[in-house]
Amino acid sequence: QSYTERYRPQYHYTPAKNWMNDPNGLIYHNGQYHLYYQYNPSGDVWGNMSWGHAISNDLTYWEEQQVALSAFDAPAGPLSEFYFSGSAVSDDIHSSGLGNSTRTPLVAAYTSYYPNDVTLPNNQTVRGGTQAQSIAYSTDDGLTWTEYAGNPVLPLPPSPYEDQWRDFRDPFIFWHEQGHHWVMVVSLPQLHKLLIYTSKNLTQWEHVSEFGPANAVGGVWECPNLFPLPLDGKKSNIKWVLMMGINPGGLAFTGSSATQYIVGSFDGKTFTADADSAYDPSSGKANWLDYGPDYYAAATYNGLGNFERVAITWMNDWAYATIIPTFPWRSAMTIPRKLTLEKIDGQPRLLSTPHSNLQSLKHGPPLYSKHWDSIPTGSVTLPVSGKVLDITLTFSSGKSSKHLGLGVRTNGMNNGTIIGYDFTTTQMFVNRNASSDASSFSSLFPGVYYAPLHSKDGTIKLRILLDWSSVEVFGGRGESTITAQIFPSDANTGISLFSNGDAKDVRIKVESVSSAWD
Ligand code: FRU
Repeated sequence: QSYTERYRPQYHYTPAKNWMNDPNGLIYHNGQYHLYYQYNPSGDVWGNMSWGHAISNDLTYWEEQQVALSAFDAPAGPLSEFYFSGSAVSDDIHSSGLGNSTRTPLVAAYTSYYPNDVTLPNNQTVRGGTQAQSIAYSTDDGLTWTEYAGNPVLPLPPSPYEDQWRDFRDPFIFWHEQGHHWVMVVSLPQLHKLLIYTSKNLTQWEHVSEFGPANAVGGVWECPNLFPLPLDGKKSNIKWVLMMGINPGGLAFTGSSATQYIVGSFDGKTFTADADSAYDPSSGKANWLDYGPDYYAAATYNGLGNFERVAITWMNDWAYATIIPTFPWRSAMTIPRKLTLEKIDGQPRLLSTPHSNLQSLKHGPPLYSKHWDSIPTGSVTLPVSGKVLDITLTFSSGKSSKHLGLGVRTNGMNNGTIIGYDFTTTQMFVNRNASSDASSFSSLFPGVYYAPLHSKDGTIKLRILLDWSSVEVFGGRGESTITAQIFPSDANTGISLFSNGDAKDVRIKVESVSSAWD
């Protein structure tokens, strides 16, 4: 199937039609990568929340599946329950007793949102507006799901937080090897607290600790993830990363959604932040996983090898998500990104790099590559163009360097998205003020986004992934990224190079990326 509608991403996942938000239940199982996601089966704005589903063998080519959990099929009647965000594990040790004993069940944990007062088939009564944690299982490798009859497994937040029953969501579950138990991290969004539970069987959960508030608290905390990574690749130095969405309160613009993380340790029950990763919330400091406007509800895969982490993130922002000018689908996912932990500028930082399987969409030699010893002030249109590209630009500072960068999706020297580096502030940036034909849909859409980027040896590297309606920019080793949607005019496919002050040793490589739908 090929998709050619205006703005349709060519190698970023989108459902054929309708609304999508957060990635859910990311799990690698039996050689397949599952991507579930918040989905409205019958509309292109948020509503009727269900779990859509896609499968990939390589994180690159995706095939959309039937809806996995549909609000129209809720046990207590159509739309009596919405399936909010959550996660999934493979119950290899059959701890849950769910399903039959021959097939390994996949178990998903998610938030049940009950819009109205309801009596469930198991006779539990629920107040309208409740958010509670539930589980479902699949014994056909993730294609169809059955709700656990005892749902919800966590009907209310624990004491003393019972009054948060309307805001209690987004369970992230995983197996803790040393503790030999399951762990669930679930958010109390309004309180900026994450609650940690443990379980032996995925159905009965014990509340064991909490974390927060810390760092950015300008909006609600949603969609937590918690996972181990070796620092600087050293298996002897395992750190734990706690990651969460904050909406609004991101840094891209007032009102934006973003993703932050905190590095620390986890003993199976309690997360303890490292002193140099947690700040007083009043300081306004945070560790951002991405500095752009369109990076929210990041989720990571369960079921990969030890210490392997791959994230997929909703490439949109709640500030304007429901009115972006795409049809008949709305919202795309980022490309899958590998996450690693390295000391950068003296501090453990989460690095993101495009998953290497993206290479399979690149064929033949680069469309264009060039090296200049130096580039004086000015701008030129390069003899290359395109809408689906992987561009690498490296350079170092000359005597009076101020800016260096590229315009993509330009029309001559006009319009386009400007991606570059500011030597005076040591920041990379994306300027989408003139990126879009259709930017009038929201006054919050235009903007310039900055991310810190320092170089040890004087060389700056930017890798730019361009698709029909997005740019993802990876700076340096991936310590800074900026993700932004763009809605350019179809005719604008040019690429320009601009310099303010002298830049040295400038190299560019432009590679074409083929469609993942073919
Ligand atoms: C985050 C979020 C989650 C919730 C889901 C509902 O974008 O608000 O907290 O589970 O969306 O669709």
